Amino acid sequence: MNVLDFKNKKTQREKISVVTCYDYTSARILNSTRIDAILVGDSLAMTMYGERSTLPATIEVMAQHTTAVVRGAPDKFIIGDLPFLSYRSSLSENMNAVAALMRTGAHAVKLEGVDGNEEFIRHLVGSGVPVMGHLGLTPQSVNQLGGFRVQGRDRNQAELITSAAQKLEAAGCFSVVLECVPSALGRTISESLSIPTIGIGAGPDTDGQVLVWQDLLGMNKDFKPKFVRQYLNAGEQIESALNQFADDVIAKKFPEARESYE
Ligand code: KIV
Repeated sequence: MNVLDFKNKKTQREKISVVTCYDYTSARILNSTRIDAILVGDSLAMTMYGERSTLPATIEVMAQHTTAVVRGAPDKFIIGDLPFLSYRSSLSENMNAVAALMRTGAHAVKLEGVDGNEEFIRHLVGSGVPVMGHLGLTPQSVNQLGGFRVQGRDRNQAELITSAAQKLEAAGCFSVVLECVPSALGRTISESLSIPTIGIGAGPDTDGQVLVWQDLLGMNKDFKPKFVRQYLNAGEQIESALNQFADDVIAKKFPEARESYE
């Protein structure tokens, strides 16, 4: 998969699968799957560090995790997420943030929103950096949006998001994430763009889907938003394996002779 394949897949009506990943071991697993691309999302602030939002993610942390994922998944197309405010300063500071991510070996960057970003996106694309946009529920604006909630329910908001998506395409984005918007809006936007939309909580008609690693694998028992499908009960299975180990240690069933040196 490379940046051109995103558009080719849309033209050929082939859906695109993307999963988030934040560490080397998980990236190694992803590398041998049929998943098309990996997003090292700033959601890592929540999934890996237990924060309540993505805002605490820094460019240093993003670059460190992206490096680990690049090492683990050398065959995958990897998108590094630009964290909160890292692309809202001077051009040179913004470029330093992008350079930090791209020098890890990532193939593209993602950023949220359109207002104030169009010139920067043009500059990046002109500098050889593929850019993925992100609209709808943009978690870096959670305080402005008044919480993690579905966006684009009313007509005015829906039109604003649609026109923002068209601006992102015009600025040169190769793809746009649509997060938590009604399915009808996901479909309308996808039909109005020639670049692919990657949905999360945006219904079945976006050109691809992205899920967060921990959600897809069912690692958090108490977190199951409507748009998530859990393909595994990893949380429960890991818990049970750990309890089995603890019991075996107490019962002196581990290690056995075959697991020990003579
Ligand atoms: O940070 C992230 O993981 C994301 C996805 C939810 C699209 O932006």
